Amino acid sequence: MQMRLQKFLSQAGIASRRASEALILEGRVKVNGITVKELGTKVNPESDIIEVDGKVCNIDKEYVYILLNKPKGILTSVKDPFGRPTVIDLLKGIKTKVFPVGRLDKDTQGLLLLTNDGELTYKITHPKHKVEKTYIAHVEGVVCPKDIEALKNGIMLEDGLTSPAKVKIIKKLDNSTVLELKIHEGRKRQVRRMCDAIGHPVINLKRTQIGNLSLNGLKVGQWRYLNQDEIDYLKGL
Ligand code: URA
Repeated sequence: MQMRLQKFLSQAGIASRRASEALILEGRVKVNGITVKELGTKVNPESDIIEVDGKVCNIDKEYVYILLNKPKGILTSVKDPFGRPTVIDLLKGIKTKVFPVGRLDKDTQGLLLLTNDGELTYKITHPKHKVEKTYIAHVEGVVCPKDIEALKNGIMLEDGLTSPAKVKIIKKLDNSTVLELKIHEGRKRQVRRMCDAIGHPVINLKRTQIGNLSLNGLKVGQWRYLNQDEIDYLKGL
């Protein structure tokens, strides 16, 4: 069965579909020994030999889905050029190569999915699928109703207006506030930048849910495999 080259690469667990497109455009992908730079190129996984940077790739039939409670101070990447700890270092005992689904900042804690299923990664991270992510943000100062309205309506950031968010106050402290924010975009440092924009910088940020998936008591630094119901739920989003 023929499929598009970028879909093959994501299903083979090489990178997300978008990152695979970049690999093709950069001339790092060969099909049957010939460099291919056209994104729509069709390949047959049964008969074609596909290489990335000279390494032959195959579609992994066994998909792995992991939910990690990422600690603060750990990078959401596979490898760091400076040797700093990454989320992959926390997955002791996993032999299959998995990739983070989207990213959490180094200083953000909480729910992170990792998988070798590129199609699912594409679905969860692409804004068109509108998968809701829930964050608990402890912010500086006392947040007033006007600020909550601004967050709900959308904030003009340097990369454009944010989509409407669901926001509620969880706790008011003497000079800080704990907020729950639900957003379906995944822009870089989005929650931090939204809170900065209303004058209430984030002190601590934690992601507690992706869609209906939650940490369910998983301790910081621990991981578990998703169960079949959770996998089916994500595929059905
Ligand atoms: N928003 C942020 O600011 N940081 C994250 O890690 C995730 C969402």
